[in-house]
Amino acid sequence: MRVSIRQIHPVFVGEVSGVDVSRPLAPGEVAALEAGMDRHAVLVFHDQRLTDEQQMTFARHFGPLEDARGGNITKPEDRRLQVGMNDVSNLGRDGAPLARDSRQRLFNLGNMLWHSDSSFRPIPAKYSLLSARTVNPVGGNTEFADMRAAWDALDAGLQAEIEDLVCEHSLMYSRGLLGMLDYSEEERAMFRPVRQRLVRTHPVTGRRSLYLSSHAGGIIGLPTPEARILLRDLTEHATQPRFVYVHQWRPWDLVLWDNRQVMHRVRRYDDSQPRDMRRTTVAGDAPTVTPAPAA
Ligand SMILES: [Fe+2]
Repeated sequence: MRVSIRQIHPVFVGEVSGVDVSRPLAPGEVAALEAGMDRHAVLVFHDQRLTDEQQMTFARHFGPLEDARGGNITKPEDRRLQVGMNDVSNLGRDGAPLARDSRQRLFNLGNMLWHSDSSFRPIPAKYSLLSARTVNPVGGNTEFADMRAAWDALDAGLQAEIEDLVCEHSLMYSRGLLGMLDYSEEERAMFRPVRQRLVRTHPVTGRRSLYLSSHAGGIIGLPTPEARILLRDLTEHATQPRFVYVHQWRPWDLVLWDNRQVMHRVRRYDDSQPRDMRRTTVAGDAPTVTPAPAA
């Protein structure tokens, strides 16, 4: 078998065939997939029956897994999946859909806002890999937006105005948009804002992209309302249908995306029925800003 990638959207997204990700890959196969990610930013695989262990092994071909701590409000004793797996299902430890008023469920609704995974961490994520174990009967598509195409389409004046801006990202900003404003002292410390450049350059291709995320709630040097209206305006620009791919899940689909180049969101679904989606996250290797010297 040979890895083959076919672009399925006018500006990005490749559909992969000729690879079984449940077994260890040859170096040439890994290189072909990395090159495909650099070019297409999102890769779609079908019919990949994976155990959690196989999914983590596959993810490690692209770098170490991200330490998931500090990314959610779920308490360790409520976790459904082992360390290394990010649970983005709507299920509790008992395997049943979470209650409507579950704080964990309400917090996870933030995944329906456009975002880039882990942009609230000092070193944000490289890739995310999402495996569809149980597909919800209604809705639940995942949408991806190409932040390189969005950058390319800005006029030169706006590009020059924003290229050196630095944003503040926190899970409290994205959840605040949904009206979740109450956090414990411990959560506040865990969700302390971090700085990220608004415009990134891809380390391999050199392409520039907008680094937007609903976790962004401020821009250094700008009054908050001005920062937020600019971020909102850029997000509207960047998520126009011409930059967006809609993924309709089939059981055992696996989708990889490069968080440095795309944003994504899940759409509403029937929360009384299971949606079992399991993510592994490949850690990034550097902050997007030079860390400020300690005070
Ligand atoms: Fe996400």
